[in-house]
Amino acid sequence: MIIRKNSLIFAALLCTFTLASCDEGDIVAKDEGVQTAGKTACLNATLSGTDSWSSQYNIVLAGFAEGSSNAVVQKPLQATDGTPVHTTLSLSDNDISTIELCVTNRLRQRIVTFASVPASQLQGDTVFLNVGNVDIGMFKTIQDLVFTGTCARCHGLGLTPAAGLTLIEGQSYDQLVNHPARLPENGLRVVPGSVDESLLHKVINGDPSAGVRYDHANMIKEGTTLTLIDNWIKAGARP
Ligand code: HEC
Repeated sequence: MIIRKNSLIFAALLCTFTLASCDEGDIVAKDEGVQTAGKTACLNATLSGTDSWSSQYNIVLAGFAEGSSNAVVQKPLQATDGTPVHTTLSLSDNDISTIELCVTNRLRQRIVTFASVPASQLQGDTVFLNVGNVDIGMFKTIQDLVFTGTCARCHGLGLTPAAGLTLIEGQSYDQLVNHPARLPENGLRVVPGSVDESLLHKVINGDPSAGVRYDHANMIKEGTTLTLIDNWIKAGARP
């Protein structure tokens, strides 16, 4: 009995000790956290596809807190295709964990990120984001965000593309825009300027009037991505 009691006391002491040292660890981690307020992010990039984005979106240099998709701070870029952009962004807040070259909507929600650097890579007072040449076009973004990863396995990567529709990079645009649907009664796959007449819009939103038996609803999980495709169609479905 006595031995048991002693070992219990020992275990309790050990616990307290371990907890205390965990706590200490926490405090140290906080002290060492990156203090971003008052620091600067600096972007060097050469972009293409800048003018393909519709007016609902901004191409920005932005700071995000961990786990959040809303920019804490952002600066829209005045970028022209092929001309090097040098932009700085003042970091207003200590919670910023990444600096990103990205596109945000009017609510400052991140739609797509083209390049990102952790705030912990501060060199003195500056975090550098040197990204070289990047194609940030709106259709290229839809291809990379949706078609390549979610659709191409049935539409183009197998032996026979489903519904005769190939959504592989380089072929998807011609297969969609002004292209007749498999069934004549379904009209065109994408009608530039008209979401309601575009079969693509109906199919990915699970609209039964599309007359497609295979249910595509919920294949695209993010509401902002469905809206992105609609806005691309509305703005003229440019390549
Ligand atoms: C698991 C396989 C599968 C995946 C993944 C898939 N599809 Fe389909 N898709 C089909 C099938 C099968 C049909 C034909 C259904 C029918 O006609 O009844 C179809 C039809 C379509 C059509 C109608 C084409 C026409 O001309 O009739 C469109 C548009 C379409 N898919 C877009 C997409 C998009 C965009 C994605 C990705 C978000 C996607 N699909 C992912 C299987 C798939």
